[in-house]
Amino acid sequence: MKHSELRVFKDNGQKITCLTAYDASMAKLIDGAGVDIILIGDSLGMVIQGSENTRSVSMNDMLYHSAIVANACNQSLVIADMPFHSYDNPKTALVNAKELIDNGAHMVKLEGGVENTDVINALVSNNIRVCGHLGLQPQLVVDSSGYKVQGRGEADAQSILDNAMLLESIGVSILVLECIPSNLAKLITKKLKIPTIGIGAGKDCDGQVLVSYDMLGITLGRQPRFVRNFLSSESSISSAIKAFVSEVKEGSFPNKSESY
Ligand code: KIV
Repeated sequence: MKHSELRVFKDNGQKITCLTAYDASMAKLIDGAGVDIILIGDSLGMVIQGSENTRSVSMNDMLYHSAIVANACNQSLVIADMPFHSYDNPKTALVNAKELIDNGAHMVKLEGGVENTDVINALVSNNIRVCGHLGLQPQLVVDSSGYKVQGRGEADAQSILDNAMLLESIGVSILVLECIPSNLAKLITKKLKIPTIGIGAGKDCDGQVLVSYDMLGITLGRQPRFVRNFLSSESSISSAIKAFVSEVKEGSFPNKSESY
């Protein structure tokens, strides 16, 4: 997928697929299975480094993983996460985002809304494409009790909607919505011209993202309800990824019990 196709997909009602990758072998399988977007997520803090949260991930980690994933991709749009504290101010953010782009990412993702206005303005005015991330923001979660559905109350829901509209107005290209009620994600998706990519945000987002290690059943322990193990009914990793693609494209993932 090319950046220019994002809105075309949305306008045509074609669902967008996204999975995380951190290494070349997985990136090749995901890219080869026709997944539209590959995210080098800072979830690598948990799934690769075994940390409690994403805060352990450094810029050097992201640069290393972004380069090897980007190098393995032929057709997927490659988005790299900006790690915790790497976008504290516009100057730092610009230096770090440029490095991620130089290492092969087509776009960078950062968590948060209005508080990032100056940072996003600096990136967008320097032709760096930005993916937003609202709802549950993993970089703000310091222990597992913080992994909760966001935007349940009226004021919280309004704040997520306002931030989504703001991000679009300052030039964000695409928006990840994590762990919010389906109705709120549906409303935001309807109001925005840019695509929304949901994780635990219901079926009405313009696309879906999962952590690849979660959807292949590699991650141990209790999984959130929005995770489906696509490998349990398939005979190979490649066919599990293809099953994810077709179920997202045809709208059968996520179902009601996988949503809030
Ligand atoms: O880091 C990550 O993998 C993410 C996804 C959960 C969207 O941000």
